[in-house]
Amino acid sequence: MVTMTQAQRKAVLITGAAGGIGTATARQLDNLGFQIFAGVRKFSDGERLQREISAQITPVELDITDEASIIQAVETISEAVGEKGLYGLVNNAGMIVEGPIELVPIKEVRKQFDVNVIGHIAVTQVFLPLLRKAQGHIVNISAPTGQVAFPYLGVLSASKAALEFMTDALRSELRPFKISVSIVEPGAMRTEIFKKSAVSAQQFRQGLPGELLKLYAPALDAVAKASANQYMDSPDVVGTSIAHALISRHPKTRYLAGRGTGMISLLRLLPDRMRDGLLLRALGVATN
Ligand SMILES: NC(=O)c1ccc[n+]([C@@H]2O[C@H](COP(=O)([O-])OP(=O)(O)OC[C@H]3O[C@@H](n4cnc5c(N)ncnc54)[C@H](OP(=O)(O)O)[C@@H]3O)[C@@H](O)[C@H]2O)c1
Repeated sequence: MVTMTQAQRKAVLITGAAGGIGTATARQLDNLGFQIFAGVRKFSDGERLQREISAQITPVELDITDEASIIQAVETISEAVGEKGLYGLVNNAGMIVEGPIELVPIKEVRKQFDVNVIGHIAVTQVFLPLLRKAQGHIVNISAPTGQVAFPYLGVLSASKAALEFMTDALRSELRPFKISVSIVEPGAMRTEIFKKSAVSAQQFRQGLPGELLKLYAPALDAVAKASANQYMDSPDVVGTSIAHALISRHPKTRYLAGRGTGMISLLRLLPDRMRDGLLLRALGVATN
């Protein structure tokens, strides 16, 4: 059997690799023979990935909102890959700030944009010299909320829409360097992201006036019920699209990964008020 040495294996950095889609992608790309740098915030998560997936995975401590952490990561990876450069950057790290816009503290809004938008720009900027060496590939993980604003996920939607526009511009800007840029929009996936956002929303709402919370209580109950009933795919589905974006000679600009994503893109074409009504009805929110 022919095996590739570290020097021959194409290097890919996946941010937010500690769980969900990031871990699923690390597993798939490792199986395909890539050299994986797994961005994790806790080193113990990296050790777990080595145990559970492969000892060949290299964990890299990386908080994408922390400049010093990004610089340390690029130095580590640059030293490891040398002249072959970085073949792939998967900007996957992300989080959800949920709830009606009126109820989200500005601190949380900033956090949402720091992680889902600014962090990806910061990471992309510093890794571009390494990506240029390999004529590499960038894959940004967005969401259907980047195409259609979901009520009660307005802050998340705004962040993913910003990521979509950033990605579209980057694709054109990097075309002369033969660096491909793709965006992947996963449907609902079975990961911890929703649980984390619910816990965080519960915490930040504790500081809000009861009268204000009461105004939104019926809508939030309906949304919680609708969310509990939604179908969730395995995050492996997303890993497959990411692998295609990295391997194909003609990567797509946009991948819809998972059930229902095509329908959501179609909603974009509807007149605004018709789309608003359909979304509220789907969530079971009464409007009169
Ligand atoms: N699950 C879905 O249904 C779905 C649908 C559409 C799009 N997406 C997108 O897919 C991506 C992955 O989400 P997931 O569902 O796999 O969620 P997840 O399991 O919660 O994974 C998110 C990862 O991002 C990491 N992360 C959060 N903040 C970070 C920061 N400041 N710096 C570095 N890493 C950070 C988390 O690290 P810790 O473990 O240390 O917190 C975690 O490893 C996100 O961009 C999300 O918006 C998910």
